[in-house]
Amino acid sequence: MKITITDTETEFDNESAWNIIRTIISYPRSVIGLSTGRTTENMHRIVAKIFESHPFDVSNVTFLGLDEIANISRKYDVTCYTMLRKQMLNALKVKNKQFIILPSISKNYSDSCQLFDKEIEKRKGIDLIMLGLGENGHLGFNQPGTSFGQTTWLTNMDKRLELQIREKTGISSDTEIGGVTLGLKNIMHARKIILLAKGKNKADIVKKMLQGKVTEDIPASILQLHPNCEFLFDKDAAQKLSL
Ligand code: GLP
Repeated sequence: MKITITDTETEFDNESAWNIIRTIISYPRSVIGLSTGRTTENMHRIVAKIFESHPFDVSNVTFLGLDEIANISRKYDVTCYTMLRKQMLNALKVKNKQFIILPSISKNYSDSCQLFDKEIEKRKGIDLIMLGLGENGHLGFNQPGTSFGQTTWLTNMDKRLELQIREKTGISSDTEIGGVTLGLKNIMHARKIILLAKGKNKADIVKKMLQGKVTEDIPASILQLHPNCEFLFDKDAAQKLSL
């Protein structure tokens, strides 16, 4: 199991960005999974900045959004689609056909999830997922208690994130907000995963994920069983690990 610990947040952001660029340059037809949040935002912006000064070929890459907020329009900046577009994909001039993500609004989420899995199959699976980690161990929107066998699905959102979204968008509690996400089974099928965590608020869960038992109560603990998962932490997130 490869664990990289950086001294600073800036090194963490640069190192994670270079992982994406290295993959694109080595495998120009890659399918690359992306997550949104505080952990990955700078990484996306760094990839965009490097691309702008030293362009590399992304015309055959597929970018895949790992999860999406359900029941709110993409016109809101909080949707994963819009965040990924604005942080990185617009700068890389990624075409719509090169960016697959679950819809934020759908008449039938179950059909949308099946379609999404087919889109991934058509591209022969995911080469790399740059995976964020929730403070409670969630991956995507797979909250504690999610079955390890779960495939792409519509689920609940954790209350804290839901509150933040309502505050940012002004969407009232009359509209139910959920999350659509790759399931843990789909995530485990990726050929390579890089799990990213930075900040001291992630220190406890990083320890449980890597040095606790593999349990559905901590979805990210399943990564201990992945044959090609690397972990990238800054030193705050790694502070409780016994190495
Ligand atoms: C969110 C997203 C995940 C993300 C995680 C970490 O809820 N659904 O895809 O990786 O939480 O977020 P952050 O990086 O802001 O801590």
